[in-house]
Amino acid sequence: MIDTEEIRLSLEKELSKVESLQELQELKAKYIGKKGIISLAIGDIKKVPLEKRREYGSAVNSLKEYAEKLFKEKEEEIRKRELQERLLKEWVDLSIPLEPKIGAYHPISLTIQRVKDILTSMGFSVAEGPEIELEAYNFDLLNIPKEHPARDMQDTFYINREGYLLRTHTSPVQIRVMLSQKPPIYVIAPGRVYRRDDDPTHSPMFHQVEGLAVDKHISFKHMKYTIETFLREFFEVHVPVRFRASYFPFTEPSAEVDIGCVICGGEGCRVCKHTGWLEVMGCGMVHPQVLENCHIDPEVYQGFAFGMGVERLAMLYFGIDNIKLFFENDLRFLRQFV
Ligand code: PHE
Repeated sequence: MIDTEEIRLSLEKELSKVESLQELQELKAKYIGKKGIISLAIGDIKKVPLEKRREYGSAVNSLKEYAEKLFKEKEEEIRKRELQERLLKEWVDLSIPLEPKIGAYHPISLTIQRVKDILTSMGFSVAEGPEIELEAYNFDLLNIPKEHPARDMQDTFYINREGYLLRTHTSPVQIRVMLSQKPPIYVIAPGRVYRRDDDPTHSPMFHQVEGLAVDKHISFKHMKYTIETFLREFFEVHVPVRFRASYFPFTEPSAEVDIGCVICGGEGCRVCKHTGWLEVMGCGMVHPQVLENCHIDPEVYQGFAFGMGVERLAMLYFGIDNIKLFFENDLRFLRQFV
């Protein structure tokens, strides 16, 4: 016989110390498991003398019921607490402001995109050509024959495969387009170009955007309007634009385009070398010989072309004074364009 009152007290006491399901399980085994104190007592009821058996039996049975109830309650309590602890640990506060580490477009990509956006909105479509280019496309068909002094204007990287080089400008894309498409042609060609040049304003690899329009009745004024409109959109101000007579073998007449210095407003500063003007691109009417080289009849069609350096535009637009910053990929520099 057991003292049910004593067992009840010791169960309550032990149970109050239980913290985990594991401990609860052990305690459960001790009291109401197969060989638990209460279970064994129930098995022994029949051994109790008859006169006490009834009373004792009901006491033991209600102790068992009571114990089961306590264990169940305790288990629920532990499970609830564990769930709360887990939720608390996994809780994410969506209202906490994050420090976003978002990547940024490179200033050169941003600039090319701006140039593309403006010119495509004016009706040009985008063309591409290879960076390893045929010497014939980079020079010969552009009216720059071998031994022509103009080849010295662009210090070329030759590669050791006869007839190929790293393109020195995007103008060979003009050739590719004219050889493969019939006029009317309105294309721009952005891309990398290579020259043996290296100083604070020149890099051996840089970017140009070429423009080409070939159609009937194309004249210098169309070119002038296109370029002026482009530059004023690009710099977001009504910059003064001037065309200075110049020379390119593939255009005739040719011009160099200057804008009023966007740094000093034309007053004269270090960037414009105190002239008040900044040279931003070359342009001209496509040389009849170049049209003919591409099987386009110069008696029927005329064209204009222009080419500009993207780094130069980006330096002026963002106010950057060293071209090397574009290629060092210093995050302190690049983060400013987020
Ligand atoms: N290809 C010339 C250069 O790289 C620029 C240019 C393009 C000039 C088209 C006239 C017409 O200097």
